[in-house]
Amino acid sequence: MTRNMLIDTDTASDDAVALLMALEHPDIEVLAITTVAGNVSLAQASINARYTVEFCGHDTPVYEGAERPLLRAPHRAEFFHGSDGMGDMHYPAPRRAPQPQHAVAAIIDTVRANPGIILVTLGPLTNIALALQQAPDIAGNVSRCVVMGGAACCIGNITPAAEFNIWCDPEAARICLHAGLPIELVGWENCRGAAALTPAELQQLTAEIGTAKTQFLIDCNRVATKVNCEWLGEPGLTLPDPVAMAVAIEPDICRASQHYVDIECQGELTRGMTVVDQLNTVAHGVAQNQANVAAWQALVQRGQANARVCWEIDAKRWKALLQQCLR
Ligand code: BDR
Ligand code: CA
Repeated sequence: MTRNMLIDTDTASDDAVALLMALEHPDIEVLAITTVAGNVSLAQASINARYTVEFCGHDTPVYEGAERPLLRAPHRAEFFHGSDGMGDMHYPAPRRAPQPQHAVAAIIDTVRANPGIILVTLGPLTNIALALQQAPDIAGNVSRCVVMGGAACCIGNITPAAEFNIWCDPEAARICLHAGLPIELVGWENCRGAAALTPAELQQLTAEIGTAKTQFLIDCNRVATKVNCEWLGEPGLTLPDPVAMAVAIEPDICRASQHYVDIECQGELTRGMTVVDQLNTVAHGVAQNQANVAAWQALVQRGQANARVCWEIDAKRWKALLQQCLR
């Protein structure tokens, strides 16, 4: 059965592959793509999203949203994705314009009109937080909200404690985690190690699949591939947003568990940290302890964990799914 999806994205190179996966998957109907500032400016994210939609031969509407985080100064990741966010490929301008409606209004309308919709977020959570503030009722219409964000294991990629999407707009992420959305956090760690595409696997994609979509993945991620290797000393390509999309498409592709999760918005060293009460899987969690009541009450009084945390993706299955979408 086809599942409806709305994707919110700061479209750069790995977002583009995640969009491609959803657009090309036979079980997924992408009703709308909403863009947000993050990796690149809002204008560039919109261009990249529309180019990707057209490259895939679709006419999915693309809406433009927040130009900056709720409270923080904007922060870009062009060093990682290229000056255009697409590996410095400087693709031709998309033919279609963005939709005139603001992304926040589009999120509210689309979610209200499609109960059970799956929300996938691939960038800072600014648009989603604004939509929830204006229309808290929409949380009840979302069947799953898969968030590429956070570092539940606490290896950050922007600070030692935080992952880029959550760090960019921690207040927005906190609003989302407190809103009663059925959040599934797919942290950055899930795209590393066995989940990264090795140089041999990238070559194999070209040799054995060799479609224009494969070339698109390789081209628009060429800066990311280089920087990833220089920075982490891990040759190959990590694809955080496509890994999150794999979880959105195949929920049982990862090992996951339910936890109380909140975001640090004040810490000097820990801005944007995804703080996870992990002990509840083996004993009582600690968020409910008397000493922690003041900080955790707002979540704990709900009586049930507010997020499903993905700990490890089945690397074989994720790569097979990616290949299927590239054929
Ligand atoms: C996230 O940050 C961005 O650079 C990627 O697109 C991904 O959404 C990884 O931390
Ligand atoms: Ca992204």
